[in-house]
Amino acid sequence: MRRITLSRYLIEQQREKNHLNSDLRLLIEVVARACKTISVAINKGELAGVLGSAGTDNVQGEVQKKLDVLSNEILLDANEWGGHLAAMASEEMDEPHPIPNRFPKGEFLLVFDPLDGSSNIDVNMTVGTIFSVLKCPEGVEPNEQAFLQPGVKQVAAGYALYGPSTMLVLTTGHGVDAFTLDREQGSFVLTQKGMRIPEETKEFAINMSNMRFWEAPMQRYINELLAGKEGPRGKDFNMRWIASMVADVHRIMTRGGVFFYPIDSKTKDKGGKLRLMYEANPMSMLVEQAGGAATNGLQRILEIKPEKLHQRVPVMLGSKQEIDLVTSYHLESQ
Ligand code: AHG
Ligand code: MN
Ligand code: MN
Ligand code: MN
Repeated sequence: MRRITLSRYLIEQQREKNHLNSDLRLLIEVVARACKTISVAINKGELAGVLGSAGTDNVQGEVQKKLDVLSNEILLDANEWGGHLAAMASEEMDEPHPIPNRFPKGEFLLVFDPLDGSSNIDVNMTVGTIFSVLKCPEGVEPNEQAFLQPGVKQVAAGYALYGPSTMLVLTTGHGVDAFTLDREQGSFVLTQKGMRIPEETKEFAINMSNMRFWEAPMQRYINELLAGKEGPRGKDFNMRWIASMVADVHRIMTRGGVFFYPIDSKTKDKGGKLRLMYEANPMSMLVEQAGGAATNGLQRILEIKPEKLHQRVPVMLGSKQEIDLVTSYHLESQ
């Protein structure tokens, strides 16, 4: 197979297909480079002294891990000086981060979850980075308001998965392609073109310990899956839960399945657990680009108009038939 690095892929996407401009190409290259640096730190683990808690809380009230803070800094440092961004925002910062005056500014806004699945770090399990790219509306200050665009406005989205191998999964709105990091060469190499999520599945991902806190339509749907062959679905379902959205979504991108973080009575006041701008939106764009579906139970996630940078949202995504069914249960109960 012809070996295509991420750099070559991006140049070809720009030159032959006109799918991106030079600034977006640079942005994706820089994010990928930052993810390589994060991957190295995660890989060294205890040897680099990066495990454990940082002793601070983020805006969501979560205790920050050292790697949450470090990954955030790596992404900020890498992206500040290139001239491709108007501003950045992340799970780990209360407010958007403006580009310092000493650097040129560009037209894009970058939003990220620097380290997803941070409860997995100290037990040496898979974690990831999620990112979303928007355009800063012309003549608008790149403050919080500028970021509050629905997910359909994303011009690119992706994640890095730090698993047995490090991968980058990317969309610029023309399908989803996946790259694997060649550590010796230091480059991401195209390993899967046009990822597709099968419409049907027999595998679901949800934190079952919250079942008693879910709303009726979610309970009904999962109970029907659990009833297996004898139940209304007439087939047995398998379950997986890694507790790292990147890892769970990557499995679904690879072999199909569905992922849920529904509203429950514990998170109802906050609007859910997962965050719209840097978890749900980029993952929904990837899933839709791979032929799957993503809703909050009532509407397409990508059409939600955000009101706050750190807004939370119930998430249901993956194989289309299942997402259509669970969404219909929610709509019926309205
Ligand atoms: P983060 O580590 O970025 O705060 O995100 C954690 C999220 C997500 O990755 C995962 O799907 C979910 O939290 C797991 O939640 P539970 O621990 O409640 O299962
Ligand atoms: Mn967190
Ligand atoms: Mn996360
Ligand atoms: Mn995170």
